[in-house]
Amino acid sequence: MNRYILFLIIIIVIFLASCYYDNVEALYPSLASTCDTTNVTFSGTIVPILSSNCTSCHSGGAPSGSITLTSYANVQTIAASGMLMNSLKGTGVPAMPLSGSLSACKISQVQIWIKNGMLNN
Ligand code: HEC
Repeated sequence: MNRYILFLIIIIVIFLASCYYDNVEALYPSLASTCDTTNVTFSGTIVPILSSNCTSCHSGGAPSGSITLTSYANVQTIAASGMLMNSLKGTGVPAMPLSGSLSACKISQVQIWIKNGMLNN
């Protein structure tokens, strides 16, 4: 093979390999070491966040905003519609919880759970 072409291919491969760098601590620098962003599960992470911050208003027969956050199916539907993250960030809707926003760590954990496919794990 022509040396010039080989050289060009190597440069292209190096260039492409350098494009993607998906490191949680690099994406969310403030979370380094204190926030568990690797073992994010529905039962172990999301349910505790929702039950301590949200279900006091979003459960029962007349949930606030007609939003129920007590079952996987409810939460998955609201997450898939984008409404869950919008409410946590206060994007276009009142920021939730109404008493003040969640920590950056908890918001990131919800975002990671959504990004990972909203598994019922
Ligand atoms: C103190 C009660 C209270 C708590 C706690 C609370 N919410 Fe709400 N939430 C409301 C009320 C009231 C509305 C209706 C607001 C409106 O539509 O003006 C609402 C609306 C919403 C909506 C619909 C957004 C919209 O306006 O269309 C979502 C999604 C939501 N809440 C998610 C959450 C999440 C997630 C949490 C926990 C992090 C949470 N809420 C905690 C009272 C609460």
